[in-house]
Amino acid sequence: MLKLGVLISGSGTNLQAIIDACANGTLDAEVVLVISSKPDAYGLQRAQQANIPTIGLTREVYNSQLAADQLIAERFAQAGAEYIVMAGYMRMVGAPILEAFPDKVINIHPALLPAFVGAHGIQDAWDYGVKVTGVTVHFANAAYDEGPIIAQRAVEIYEHDSIESLEQRIHAVEHELYPQVLQLLATGRISIDEHRHVRISNPNSAA
Ligand code: GAR
Repeated sequence: MLKLGVLISGSGTNLQAIIDACANGTLDAEVVLVISSKPDAYGLQRAQQANIPTIGLTREVYNSQLAADQLIAERFAQAGAEYIVMAGYMRMVGAPILEAFPDKVINIHPALLPAFVGAHGIQDAWDYGVKVTGVTVHFANAAYDEGPIIAQRAVEIYEHDSIESLEQRIHAVEHELYPQVLQLLATGRISIDEHRHVRISNPNSAA
C-alpha cells in the first residue's frame, strides 16, 4: 500500500477526498502524516478525525523556508512516506524536500497549467474571460505550479456561470481526479521519460 505524506494550508477538501478514497478502497494508499503550513488549517481537523498524525508548522518555522522544508522532509521520511502530495499547499517546496523525494512530490492546481499559475488560479481564469479552464495534477519542481504534467481535466465556463458555480465544478473535478492519479501512482503506472514528459502505461484506463 502506497504511503502518502500530505501538505496542506487550508480547508483540506482535497485531503478529504484522498482520505475517503483510501477508506472506500478506490485508492490503494494510506495517508501517514499531514503537515500544514498554518497551525489552524481546517484540514488538520479532517486528518485528526481520520486518526492521521498531524503537524502544524509554527510561524517561526514557517517563516524560514529552509527550516520548514528541512523539517517537512525529515518528518515525512520518519513517517515512511513514499510520495508527498500537495493538496492546497500554498508555497513552493524547496531543495530539502525535492532532494529527499526526487520526482515524488505531486501538486494539484485549479487551472490548466501552464496558464494561471499562483494562488488564485480559478479567479485569474475567470477574470481573464477564458471559455475553458480546468484542473492539473503534476510533479512539483522548485518553481511554483511547475513540473511534468500527469493529468489534466478541462472545465468549460458557461454563460450562466458565476465565479462560485465555476469554483464548485472545479473542486468537484479535483476531488475525482486527484485520487485517480494517486491510484495510478500506487499501481506503478506513471513514469517520466527522457523529455521529462509523463507516460502512463495502459492509457485506456488512465486518469
Ligand atoms: C485547491 O483548489 C487546489 O487546487 C488549490 O488550492 C485549493 C485547496 O483546496 N491549489 C493551488 O491553488 C496551488 N497553486 P482544499 O484545501 O480544500 O483542498
